[in-house]
Amino acid sequence: MERLIDPFARRITYLRVSVTDRCDFRCSYCMDEGTQFLPRADLLSLEELDRLCTAFIGLGVQKLRITGGEPLLRRNVMSLFRALSRHLETGALRELTLTTNGSTLAPHAADLAACGVKRVNVSLDSLRPARFTAITRRGDLATVLAGIAAAKAAGLRVKINTVALRGVNEDELIDLATWAGAEGHDLSFIEVMPVGEMPMTDRAATFLSLAEVRARLSEHLTLSDLPETTGGPARYVRAAETGQRIGFITPLSHGFCDSCNRVRISATGTLYPCLGQEGGTDLRGPLRGSEGDAALLDAIRTAIGRKPRGHDFAYGLSGASGQVGRGMNHTGG
Ligand code: GTP
Ligand code: 5AD
Ligand code: SF4
Repeated sequence: MERLIDPFARRITYLRVSVTDRCDFRCSYCMDEGTQFLPRADLLSLEELDRLCTAFIGLGVQKLRITGGEPLLRRNVMSLFRALSRHLETGALRELTLTTNGSTLAPHAADLAACGVKRVNVSLDSLRPARFTAITRRGDLATVLAGIAAAKAAGLRVKINTVALRGVNEDELIDLATWAGAEGHDLSFIEVMPVGEMPMTDRAATFLSLAEVRARLSEHLTLSDLPETTGGPARYVRAAETGQRIGFITPLSHGFCDSCNRVRISATGTLYPCLGQEGGTDLRGPLRGSEGDAALLDAIRTAIGRKPRGHDFAYGLSGASGQVGRGMNHTGG
């Protein structure tokens, strides 16, 4: 089978697909209150998304993560999961999964499991109701926790994603890890990245190095390094006391670009070869053009040929350097 190999000899086997830029939350580090969403007409249709994903699977993609915005807000998104699950049945695809804010996970959990989804990643930055609502600006903690419980009851494994924020949730990172361990969930901590228009100083003020978080955790839990990965960017440790895995996603303090295996597609069909660089390649044109799959496959190969070595995120720089303008809700993280 033809493979996708980038200019730095990295095999691309993981595709992240954003199905909507909309979200019912406005997490303070992700989106401004006034964020404008794309006109619905600009989005790829579910049939187009299926065709695009299928093309990538034909080129060796083995892990597909549906993202957003909040992916479960996309109307009829379950029909996309159902369609894509055929690739799990043939064995062409190893994993079909999603990252969600959990707000509507409860009503979707059983359907996701029925589509062959085994695991979901749920964002959760606080276990304190008022703080949770302050960070997400409109989320309700109890609803998200009910979504997580429903996922577990449906047989899905849950991984919690927690962005570590200095002065915001740093005092409850150990509580979050302990809670997740008791519930049987893995948890990944994430360093806040300068993605999306927002004053650099605001993000820099909340940046918390995970090297520091790990040191604090080790005062309470016995952590040992694990060799395995999920094919994502996290490096994992196991906590002896709970048996759970704790991941560290450290784009700033400990880069992982050398082993990058992923690209992402926005809801409008632009392929972004790196979360931390501006450049993208339009796939919607070739997808809608009259030249069929050959032109689409060519455009995908060209885009992969433009994958840069890595991000150059940095805090403390003036102007826009070290920062990527398009929002995380556009590219899906
Ligand atoms: P697993 O399959 O559980 O390993 O998931 P994942 O970590 O690949 O996906 P998830 O959507 O849970 O992403 C967690 C965090 O990692 C998010 O903040 C993403 O933005 C970030 N992330 C994922 N891929 C990349 C990447 O290529 N570069 C950077 N800098 N961050 C990434
Ligand atoms: N830096 C780090 N993580 C972010 N996320 C959203 N914006 C940022 C950012 N600027 C996280 C969400 C979610 C995941 C997909 O990305 O919290 O868990
Ligand atoms: Fe928060 Fe994710 Fe929505 Fe961004 S896309 S506002 S991180 S829930």
